[in-house]
Amino acid sequence: MRQAGRSLPEYRAVREGVAMLDACMRPDLIIEITMQPVRRHGVDAAILFSDIVLPLKALGLDLDIVPGVGPVIAEPITELAGVDAIPAFDATRVDFVSEAVTGLVAELGSTPLIGFAGAPYTLASYLIEGGPSKDHAKTKALMHGAPEVWRALMARLAGISAGFLRVQIEAGASAVQLFDSWAGGLSPHDYRKFVLPHSAAVLGAIADLGVPRIHFGVATGELLAAMSTAGVEVMGVDWRVPLDRAVERVQPGQALQGNLDSTLVFAPWDVVEREALRVLEAARSAPGHIFNLGHGVLPGTDPDVLTRLVDLIHSQEMPREG
Ligand code: CP3
Repeated sequence: MRQAGRSLPEYRAVREGVAMLDACMRPDLIIEITMQPVRRHGVDAAILFSDIVLPLKALGLDLDIVPGVGPVIAEPITELAGVDAIPAFDATRVDFVSEAVTGLVAELGSTPLIGFAGAPYTLASYLIEGGPSKDHAKTKALMHGAPEVWRALMARLAGISAGFLRVQIEAGASAVQLFDSWAGGLSPHDYRKFVLPHSAAVLGAIADLGVPRIHFGVATGELLAAMSTAGVEVMGVDWRVPLDRAVERVQPGQALQGNLDSTLVFAPWDVVEREALRVLEAARSAPGHIFNLGHGVLPGTDPDVLTRLVDLIHSQEMPREG
């Protein structure tokens, strides 16, 4: 949940009376909401206003994003028939995304647009659990108990994620991020066996397009080494792992994205400043660094603190060698 917009009054104003996924299907709103944090904070890149479950909705699945809860699915998947009922990706169902991306790229000028998709595991967890879950018990039970259903589901979702990323890149996105938000709940063994091949399939399927690929999950400290082999140029790191430690876990040459604790922007400014500078310092050993909040913007964040933080980071920018 990047959700910089959620802290902005101008976001709440345009979303008034419009459901989340309806907003994600209207090019005018996608463009306006994507631009809001860029206009206000002067960030170096825009992230497309959409959601990881949007392509599933666009393909016809009965799901909704319930405010304060998250994605909720009407008929959770339990067996192969449920997997077969998920349509294969069809780019014509997400025309509005292509239209919005084209419009955004024109409006953004030299500011890059980051597109994104959900990774198969995180999407599967919503489809199997029926909604958000703390332990992902049903997901893991299906993964271990019905491996053929699991493989079919992951393969179908990999096709959808790859297709959705391709649409965004072909319309002009400069980079893409694959969110495997909930992979951190898996053991390294299960991650490598049941998840990594499918994430690698997604990232491999867009390799020909030549844009930087970013990969991120929450609480994935123990998985960073495995995730970094999925076919990416940049590894996203949440706030739990110092970036100088993360450098040692990812592939040589990979840049890092991260990782100020999203809650720290509620602290007094001198704390925010000190901790942001600590993040920059820890990133010095990485071949490249995209500064961000370790897991997006929390609702209730003071937007003025975010603007000040962006200014602070800009004041520290250093040319990199190589
Ligand atoms: O800032 C942006 O708008 C960027 C676009 C963006 C959204 N969701 C918009 C959104 C992105 C990149 C996401 C990704 C996403 N969605 C992830 C992975 C992100 C990560 O950092 O790990 C996940 C797990 C989801 C699923 C999802 N969608 C959740 C858990 C929620 C929160 C529900 C809640 O209300 O607490 C959403 C809703 C959502 N997605 C909102 C936005 C702006 C809030 C909806 C609203 O304002 O009504």
